Amino acid sequence: MCPINKIIERQKAAGKNEMEKPIILSIESSCDDTSAAVLCGDRILSNVTASQKVHEQYGGVVPELASRAHQQNIVPVVDAALKNAGVLSEDIRAVAFTRGPGLLGSLMVGVSFAKGFAQSLNIPLIEVNHLQAHVLSHFIKETDESVVPEFPFICLLVSGGHTQILLLKSHFGMEVLGETIDDAAGEAIDKAAKIMDLGYPGGPIIDRLAKEGNAEVFHFAVPHIEGNNYSFSGIKTSFLYFLRDRLAEDPDFIEKNKADLCASIQQCIVGFLMKKLERAVKETGVKQVAIAGGVSANSLLRSELERLGKRRRLRVFIPKFQYCTDNAAMVGIVGYFKYLKGDFADISLPPYAKG
Ligand code: KG4
Ligand code: ZN
Repeated sequence: MCPINKIIERQKAAGKNEMEKPIILSIESSCDDTSAAVLCGDRILSNVTASQKVHEQYGGVVPELASRAHQQNIVPVVDAALKNAGVLSEDIRAVAFTRGPGLLGSLMVGVSFAKGFAQSLNIPLIEVNHLQAHVLSHFIKETDESVVPEFPFICLLVSGGHTQILLLKSHFGMEVLGETIDDAAGEAIDKAAKIMDLGYPGGPIIDRLAKEGNAEVFHFAVPHIEGNNYSFSGIKTSFLYFLRDRLAEDPDFIEKNKADLCASIQQCIVGFLMKKLERAVKETGVKQVAIAGGVSANSLLRSELERLGKRRRLRVFIPKFQYCTDNAAMVGIVGYFKYLKGDFADISLPPYAKG
């Protein structure tokens, strides 16, 4: 029996109707990952992502190439998501899509596809904010036993474009406790990798190389910023000037010290992230802490959160790798919560780049 029929059988046995556990198709295309997922209620049935290799040679995402690649990927990705879930398009009750923030050309592909798909089936559309999706990814269930956070909880959202400490009071009740006043943590990591000419995206490369290095070899100062806020642009600049001076003495400096440089800059950025997160935890007295967004895939950040949890007796929530970087499953879970509220989107809604 296909997974969805099993779920419907179970629902019937439990006396639940289909309305409570709608099947939702979700689409994510805000940057350089084309992703589609199918959820039955809060249960994930499939999550398919096509990453775009084309940007590697340019050292960053090229918006025009990203939207073209989304156009090529969207149909096969949605098709695979439906097949993997074992559902037919007529089983779908709503289409959720990332409306923003992100690259307009990229968003446009997912938004247009979602609109066309929903209109052809005469089912509602649900608009989703990309950042909210990262945070609510903790509510995706893979099994009946999946454990999700209770409210209130604190979430450190760390992606390529955002760094925020959020207090979650309900699914849609978020308070910003602190945030970066300039660059995002992911941006700083990617820039450090670019300065060392390591490739793009730099985050996973620095993470891998850091495992072979010693984080105590080089020290980069962390700025003093008010409250629970961050600033990463100074760290990036001091890393650049430090390397410029060392390279003047020894042109092979980066090559000879690559692993130690990666470990040291990673330690600096993750240490700063954790310092303010702990401050926010102390200040609020909240006992549950989560991380989300692409940088939450970082192995040092994950282990540091575990350590903080043990030290301060907190329940910690660390997303599975497939829900850290951009994916449609997280869009689907927001879609499900909005579906329950009847919060549907008008077909005329355009995507937005910032917000
Ligand atoms: O959430 P995400 O996939 O896209 C945005 O919404 O921005 O985050 C991408 C960011 C990039 O800066 C990437 O380098 C970083 O997440 N990242 C990592 C790791 N994996 C991805 N940073 C550090 N360590 C990693 N393992
Ligand atoms: Zn993201």
